[in-house]
Amino acid sequence: MRPFYVTTPIYYISGNPHIGHAYTTIVADVLARTARAHGPAYFLTGTDEHGQKVADAAAAAGKSPQQWCDDLIPRWQSLFERYNVSYDDFIRTTQPRHERVVQTVFERLRESGDVYLGKYEGWYCVPDETFWLESKLVDGKCPTCGRPVQWLSEDDWFFRLSKYNDRLKQYFIDHPQWVRPRAVYNEMMALLEDGLDDLSITRTNLSWGIPVPNADGVIYVWFDALLNYISALGWPEGEKFKTFWPASVQLIGKEIARFHTLIWPAILWALGEDAPGTVFAHGWITIEGAKMSKSLGNVVDPFALAERFGADAMRYFLLREAPFGSDFSYSEEKIVQRYNSDLGNDLGNLLQRSLAMLDKYRSGLVPQPGNGAFGEQFADLPKRVHALITDLQFRDALEAIWELVSALNRAIDERKPWVLFKEGRQTELDALLYDLCEGLRWLAMLLHPFMPERSRIIWKQLGTSEPIDVNWEQALRWGGIASGTQTARGETLFPRIEAVAT
Ligand code: MSP
Repeated sequence: MRPFYVTTPIYYISGNPHIGHAYTTIVADVLARTARAHGPAYFLTGTDEHGQKVADAAAAAGKSPQQWCDDLIPRWQSLFERYNVSYDDFIRTTQPRHERVVQTVFERLRESGDVYLGKYEGWYCVPDETFWLESKLVDGKCPTCGRPVQWLSEDDWFFRLSKYNDRLKQYFIDHPQWVRPRAVYNEMMALLEDGLDDLSITRTNLSWGIPVPNADGVIYVWFDALLNYISALGWPEGEKFKTFWPASVQLIGKEIARFHTLIWPAILWALGEDAPGTVFAHGWITIEGAKMSKSLGNVVDPFALAERFGADAMRYFLLREAPFGSDFSYSEEKIVQRYNSDLGNDLGNLLQRSLAMLDKYRSGLVPQPGNGAFGEQFADLPKRVHALITDLQFRDALEAIWELVSALNRAIDERKPWVLFKEGRQTELDALLYDLCEGLRWLAMLLHPFMPERSRIIWKQLGTSEPIDVNWEQALRWGGIASGTQTARGETLFPRIEAVAT
């Protein structure tokens, strides 16, 4: 199997993280954990520390940009820790390992002629760190975020993006799945039909950035930032680069698709490297129809949410609530609803009921299996869930897992263990209790990428000593849990939460 490499955008460290930032990183974590159970995998995230937006935030706080970033970093890293994000590397664009690569790339492209000196006259959107031609503005404002732009007139270095227009178009045609979802693919294709302009990649009116080698100014923050995906791997000679590039999946929010699907492959090609496998542009978490963002002032604090609902329940909610790719509107009622019904009633009660009956009827010991008929209906579930996750259909993957949750709950309701016990139908009771334990073992394993903490609690209560994060297709054959295993009831998985009055 090809080594798996997943990345998130690197986050502007212009303030505290919000739940939108946690979202992309959690999704990447689900992919990374699933991939790791099945082969070599690498997961990169980090922070984008240069540019005017960060410089402005630092100035407003009366700090140097570097000090500002250093002070905020623990907050960002502890967010990812709080949400059990298992990244392999966290890159900061102010690290020398990154700055070196950016300068080398710049010099190489200047030598090859893909970077040349020109004059930039046009508009700049600071919140988006984006250059705009007059003709692209909407009502004189940034066409992406609708905020005011500022006039720039500078002698800048340009990247010959226009040269790659045809190659990009052909690449889009040959790889119809490389940019997902389709709507974003189409939008990008339309930009290619219009034709791309060369891109200014330096700034002279700003000092917070990576210095342009042997010339004035600093390197444009986006040109700098995109390179993190390969600088972290030790481009060009690093072992990790050789193993993991091209990335399998690059996750981004839809507002930054242009950078990742038009500019990024062109830079890679200019360097003689391959474009990533898939770029997936997901939707926004919105509040009352507007994108949640710091500059709009409608952000929700991810630490508070983790405190209230637990990290795993939030992870579940973010992946279950909307199909990956679409926007979804955030509300606390929806979280409470999913928490109490899917997690508390369906999954939590299943564990609780099963182990309570096992305790009562079999002193907590896993009994002898029956004929395995129950398991047969789910024989292809691990493969299905794996395929759905790999295809980034997280909601469908969770729905598929919930088919097993429901079937187990139904088995209890229909086969009534208390009646089997009362009537002395011991073999039937054994078979049913066995299926419940084995089903819970499957659930813990399949849910582990989504809910790494709570799934381990199921695992622990089941008393199995095997590792939880191993190849599903091998570990999940019905009958895996050994008869005689001593289970141990413990804490409630998802204690009920009362909705707040609004
Ligand atoms: N620094 C650039 C990315 C450079 S990547 C080479 C950037 N940073 S950002 O902090 O503004 O946003 C980063 C990402 O955060 C978005 O692409 C998106 O993945 C995520 N989100 C920010 N707000 C979000 C929502 N409201 N909803 C969902 N995701 C959101 O752009």
